[in-house]
Amino acid sequence: MKGLAGKRVVVTGGSSGIGEATCRRFREEGAEVVSIALDGEIVCDVADPEQVAAAFDQVGELDVLVANAGISMRRPFLEIGEDDWQRVLDVNLGGVFRCAQQAARRMDEGVILMTASTNGLSGHELYADYNASKAGVILLARTMARELAPRIRVNAVCPGYVLTPMQRAEYTEEMLAAVNATIPLQRHAAPEEIAALFAFLASDDAGYITGAVLTIDGGETA
Ligand SMILES: NC(=O)c1ccc[n+]([C@@H]2O[C@H](COP(=O)([O-])OP(=O)(O)OC[C@H]3O[C@@H](n4cnc5c(N)ncnc54)[C@H](O)[C@@H]3O)[C@@H](O)[C@H]2O)c1
Repeated sequence: MKGLAGKRVVVTGGSSGIGEATCRRFREEGAEVVSIALDGEIVCDVADPEQVAAAFDQVGELDVLVANAGISMRRPFLEIGEDDWQRVLDVNLGGVFRCAQQAARRMDEGVILMTASTNGLSGHELYADYNASKAGVILLARTMARELAPRIRVNAVCPGYVLTPMQRAEYTEEMLAAVNATIPLQRHAAPEEIAALFAFLASDDAGYITGAVLTIDGGETA
């Protein structure tokens, strides 16, 4: 991909799943990559403003942020407690907000990418808090794209089902097959396929893409 060699890239949630694959991909492109995560190269809880500020102080100037750290809990709407709601919103939406703000202050020109979800585009049962957080991420990206242009491009990526190690552990073979049967491409995405989209969006080839919400879901929402 054009223009990624030598770029300074920060990936939040870079220690697992989509984030880990994204770190790998950017390194393959010749970028300098730092992972910020609960167990990243820089250890930080993105829900905590002071920890986030300290983490970005350590990073210094950067060119690309992939704000990807996120959590989900599967529960009926009526059983979501105040603490659960607060935590999911604090990590998934607040975390993206505060990392993006810290990053934008340390960029001359750059790119900020966010991991939203197809869950932010339409209702999915048993994930009300998660869905609300991801819908928030989408509008945050679109608003930031307008405010920060032309200096910084901002885009949101909406993966559908991605077979991360954690997700795989939750499935029996039968459950995996049943979900795959609902997806036009008949399979989950590999984390590397989401990483490839992030690499493209951060590259000079995507120089005119900002404020976009890109779905990568094997046709699920088509
Ligand atoms: N796996 C999927 O099917 C799927 C689909 C759509 C969107 N997503 C989104 O993609 C992103 C990554 O998901 P994944 O499946 O790779 O997850 P994962 O559980 O494999 O990895 C999550 C990463 O986020 C980090 N993290 C979690 N809470 C954090 C916190 N408070 N502070 C700092 N870091 C924290 C973890 O340390 C880890 O590195 C999430 O935002 C998730 O909502 C995943």
